[in-house]
Amino acid sequence: MTADVTDPRRGELVERLRTDLTGFTVDAVNELLGPVAQAALGREQSLPARLAVARRLDEPLAALIAVFVLGLEVPARQLAAAVPSTGLDALAELGLVTRAGHDSGDPVRALVDLRPYATVDSLGPADWWLASDLSEVSTGQPLSEDHVLGVGGASLTLARSTIRRPTGRVLDLGTGCGIQALHAARHAKHVVATDISARALHLAQLNWELNQASGTIEGRRGSLLEPVTGEFFDQVVSNPPFVITPRSTPAAAFEYRDGGLVGDDLVRRLVESIGSVLAPGGVAQFLGNWEGRRGEGWTDRVTSWLEASGLDGWVVQREWQDPAEYAETWIRDSGQHLGKDADELYASWLDDFASRGVEGVGFGLITLRRPVSGEPRLRVVEERRSGPGLPWGDEVIATLERQDWLAGHDDDALLAAMLKVAADVTEERHHLPGAEDPTAILLRQGGGAGRVVQAGTALTGFVGASSGDIPVGRLIAALASLLEVDVQALRAELLSDVRNLVRDGLLEPTD
Ligand SMILES: C[S@@+](CC[C@H](N)C(=O)[O-])C[C@H]1O[C@@H](n2cnc3c(N)ncnc32)[C@H](O)[C@@H]1O
Repeated sequence: MTADVTDPRRGELVERLRTDLTGFTVDAVNELLGPVAQAALGREQSLPARLAVARRLDEPLAALIAVFVLGLEVPARQLAAAVPSTGLDALAELGLVTRAGHDSGDPVRALVDLRPYATVDSLGPADWWLASDLSEVSTGQPLSEDHVLGVGGASLTLARSTIRRPTGRVLDLGTGCGIQALHAARHAKHVVATDISARALHLAQLNWELNQASGTIEGRRGSLLEPVTGEFFDQVVSNPPFVITPRSTPAAAFEYRDGGLVGDDLVRRLVESIGSVLAPGGVAQFLGNWEGRRGEGWTDRVTSWLEASGLDGWVVQREWQDPAEYAETWIRDSGQHLGKDADELYASWLDDFASRGVEGVGFGLITLRRPVSGEPRLRVVEERRSGPGLPWGDEVIATLERQDWLAGHDDDALLAAMLKVAADVTEERHHLPGAEDPTAILLRQGGGAGRVVQAGTALTGFVGASSGDIPVGRLIAALASLLEVDVQALRAELLSDVRNLVRDGLLEPTD
């Protein structure tokens, strides 16, 4: 980019570009392309979209889509008409396009992908534009090793899972095009966004300026925690380069996905070291992959990382792939087709996994919190293969609060507490045809993790009577007398189930 951040005219150029992009919104793009072309683009097929814009290039929106979303060359006059305030010279100065000549018919093409992004989170809606590198769908070329990724599925998953509460300092580690930092700038006083890639930071800087967040976000170049050593953050968010890649192979080391370490070592290091930059009470949320090895299943492995972190820790595994599926996924991701040409690469991935006895690779969300005081007490490692997926930011907050409540209530305190059944819980009874007594009673959670808990008669009775105004101990005593069972035995039977129902949000404390 020639108009770099120190160029005094840059602010004005970016402001003019904002004016020109006003109508370049997600809704407008969807409407112009239509659902069929949109769906095809989702499958990385651009032909229907190319046909949809081809006859309409005199319309500013179609010209912007053609150049910046589809990577097509268009005659200069058509793009110039779409950016009347900015002009083509300024677009080139900002590093967004390159021109073959200065005649109105000379072709112009994009140097970056630039597209609208719309989101709604607990802070409300936001409409932004994001620049990143052109994808292989646009260029028809394999990705370069320093490719800067646009917003992908993992970016959206992390943004959705991030806690959105007003906070002080946030670190976005591995910012890429800057998407997580932009989200964080809506609820943080200050955001530090780091990346090892100079190109990523250039593009992120443009995105923060375009979306009027550059006053809150500070970009820093460097690896992992090195750019922030000695500092403290109230919140850390990271979609790190977690992809497990064989090190002794022809596999390209894509910066956006590969941190250059063996196996899942990058994620382990992050988990074990992030406490050094977390302020007391601070929460870090990462996406990651982890290995399950012969003799060390994924839960043992990840639990040992949590132990070493010295932090409260909660890991939710969402996906599990065997070594071959995993290798195929990431070979395809880099634009290569499986088949004879990729055999060497495929085999090297399998060899790499075999060398560590890897039986499968998990994917999910890691949440870590530095206790405000005292020792860490939260250690949850769980799997959610079905249901609504990784927790939303609000669910993360609620779960941490419930864990704190449980940790602060020993059995005596729990017996004295009052609980009420959550509003989204329903009861299902399954009967054999004609039978009076149910064969199974299920408690089903409508929201949250959508849990379904099989409950016996006593637990069902307990939950049904939990209206928030009777202490747990008295309720259990009343049930024991109704069911004609020993009260001590019923207490022993129910208390751990009740704890689990509180932990999962089916029962809510009223204090
Ligand atoms: C998967 S991308 C995430 C981009 C963006 N945060 C998102 O959510 O879409 C990972 C980013 O980490 C960066 N990265 C790679 N190795 C790194 C390292 N050692 N330290 C910091 N960042 C690194 C890459 O350049 C890339 O921008």
